[in-house]
Amino acid sequence: MNQNETPLFDALLRHAARQPVQFHIPGHKRGRGMDNRFRSFVGDNALSLDLINIAPLDDLHHPTGAIKHAQELAAEAFGADYTYFSVQGTSTAIMTMVLATVGPGEKILVPRNVHKSVLTAIILADAHPIFLHPEVDREFGISHGLSVETVADALHRHPDARALVVINPTYFGIAADLARIVEIAHSVGVPVLVDEAHGVHTGFHPELPLSAMEAGADMAATSVHKLGGSMTGSSVLNVREGMIDPRHVQVVLSMLTTTSTSYLLLASLDVARKELAMFGRDRIGYAIALANRARAEIEQIPGLTCMDKRQLGGSATYALDPTKLTISVKDLGLTGYDVERILREDYNIEVELSDLYNILCIVSWGDSEDDVAALVTALREIAGRFRPREMKEHAPVTLPSMPELRMTPRSAFYAPTEVVPLQESVGRTMAEMVMVYPPGIPILLPGEIITQDNIDYIEANLRAGLPVQGPDDPEIRMIKVVKQDS
Ligand SMILES: Cc1ncc(COP(=O)(O)O)c(C=O)c1O
Repeated sequence: MNQNETPLFDALLRHAARQPVQFHIPGHKRGRGMDNRFRSFVGDNALSLDLINIAPLDDLHHPTGAIKHAQELAAEAFGADYTYFSVQGTSTAIMTMVLATVGPGEKILVPRNVHKSVLTAIILADAHPIFLHPEVDREFGISHGLSVETVADALHRHPDARALVVINPTYFGIAADLARIVEIAHSVGVPVLVDEAHGVHTGFHPELPLSAMEAGADMAATSVHKLGGSMTGSSVLNVREGMIDPRHVQVVLSMLTTTSTSYLLLASLDVARKELAMFGRDRIGYAIALANRARAEIEQIPGLTCMDKRQLGGSATYALDPTKLTISVKDLGLTGYDVERILREDYNIEVELSDLYNILCIVSWGDSEDDVAALVTALREIAGRFRPREMKEHAPVTLPSMPELRMTPRSAFYAPTEVVPLQESVGRTMAEMVMVYPPGIPILLPGEIITQDNIDYIEANLRAGLPVQGPDDPEIRMIKVVKQDS
């Protein structure tokens, strides 16, 4: 196949050039029926590609033409047997992986720090989650992936599990020994589903961790939009045939997908795949070099520590994506959220996320030397302003404990509920989800028994101004729990 081709984008361009009279949706008709300010800002070119699944443009739900060809090229580029495009982000690709492999009452092994889409799918499937402890980094206060030992032990205790979910690499760019995890899971007939939201680029540069497909995984939900150059909301689901039936996967994905699929998003996947396949190695090499220079400079700033290869060592911390700059700010006596706010308000810099202890900055081939220099200068100034007065010798790092599951997430979600003050909820069964977003990792899930430790962690995040989300009450003073007698 010729990876320089972009069959879907080309089909759209050919179609737009013909300027057909359009008696179909979208009703804005190439922007003419739209708000003028929006139209002139976005531009007629983009709006002329905002089309629907008419015959010349193929149909994502039953591809036979340009979309099929574009997906085949993507499969070759990602080393998959089949690749399916998603216009609903990696969340829908993840839900597809879960719903295509587990059914009601069936066990699925999942790391506790999974994205909420895994849990949503578990509720929809009425599956029985077996939560596994990810490795924890006490210095940075973050969770990594699963160790080989944890996976082996879980498979030994639950040989009837229908699937294993792995996050690889994590948001912070840490990858586990995925090839070994896959080998162990396959030896007992369990397929491996990889949340590869943060790893689209991994297969395109030798200095990066192995991609899910390179490691032999069965499916991978991969955010092309996050680090691969396509538009927000566009992702792929990569599938290896063998333990998985690709046709069934396609049916499930179609069930979860809108019938109004955005062609702008689809075309952006087509061109991003071409860029990755043709020029990925050079582009990623540039991003790695840029990030490594920034890391070296940030390390020189008193009070700041950057995650790097020193954090590697175990099977859960096996490899690092150096383009992720995880910067611990706790020794400045500030939270990551404080630093995020200062960077925004005083320096016009936006970071990817912050938590109690860190900020995360993502470096890509879209960044310039000047962008990185601006970040380093700002961090140096902030450290100068705060460190002398407020530095703490050993700021304690805490992470929430993993609660016990009293009933399945689905039974708790649909059980009769009542609303109680968060502070008075110890021992009750949670009926909604509480998580910090980003990164969307749960603190409490439906079905779990609430502990004081969880409440303290929620309070600490709220006090720091971090985005705790999920419950009906946005202030999280009250939460929904399963009624006492149900
Ligand atoms: C680990 C992880 N998985 C899945 C997702 C969902 O990806 P998307 O936003 O493309 O739906 C995210 C989003 O941040 C994520 O961090």
